[in-house]
Amino acid sequence: MSSNNESIGKTLGVVVGLCLVCAVVVSVASVQLRPLQKANKAQDVQRNILAAAGFNDVTNVEEMFGQNIEARVVNMETGEFVEQDHTTFDFESTKFDAKRSFKLDKADDKAGIQRMTDHSPVYLSKDASGQVSTIILPIQGYGLWGIMYGFIALDKDTETVKAIKFYKHNETPGLGGEIENPKWTATWVGKSLPITLVKGTAGTDKHKVDGLSGATLTSVGVGNTVDFWTSNKGFGPFLANVRNGALN
Ligand SMILES: Cc1cc2nc3c(=O)[nH]c(=O)nc-3n(C[C@H](O)[C@H](O)[C@H](O)COP(=O)(O)O)c2cc1C
Repeated sequence: MSSNNESIGKTLGVVVGLCLVCAVVVSVASVQLRPLQKANKAQDVQRNILAAAGFNDVTNVEEMFGQNIEARVVNMETGEFVEQDHTTFDFESTKFDAKRSFKLDKADDKAGIQRMTDHSPVYLSKDASGQVSTIILPIQGYGLWGIMYGFIALDKDTETVKAIKFYKHNETPGLGGEIENPKWTATWVGKSLPITLVKGTAGTDKHKVDGLSGATLTSVGVGNTVDFWTSNKGFGPFLANVRNGALN
């Protein structure tokens, strides 16, 4: 025997009401958590910059970053510093801001990123005497499955690699995903630009790094990414200015 509480109208009413309540809860949570997510993302980027600068196992990321890293913004065409707030650069979204970026010609787009920003942050790490010892450049480029985001740290000679780190990518764990493996990234340390990724043994050749076995396509992507960002289409003009004393 059916009671009033089991009518189709009431059932639908409860379902719709529950859906509305859930939708409101999810929306409010999403909006309220957004600033926290943004802050966490910014902190993760800072943690990777610190790691590229040689500061590992950092507990207070913000404090360490503030104390040890100077963030500057560079005009990519002239390679000169400009007075802009580096925090307004979100590596992934700025290149889609039509006012701050442009489309790359295919022939110029070795990293497969399609669009390029007019400006970019660079990060400078100083030694105990206050001299810049490491230049950390953000890099991004296509692997096998998508864009890989990372940093390359160069000595102030602008050629010697001090570190390479990838903090976000879609490469397959165990294959292309090994770009994050500290054992592999350690093989870059001390190598000198330009760098070719080779199958087999790079040995002590300072311009060669072993490609990842079973992940040649990702390795080629990493090589192209580093080539692009250190070329005149990337940070080349800035690195030339550094060689001419821009940091002195
Ligand atoms: C499911 C699957 C995932 C793969 N993921 C990657 C990858 O992330 N990066 C990569 O370079 N190759 C990946 N490969 C392998 C490539 O297709 C290709 O065989 C490889 O890059 C060749 O490298 P090798 O010459 O060192 O063997 C994957 C293959 C399969 C079947």
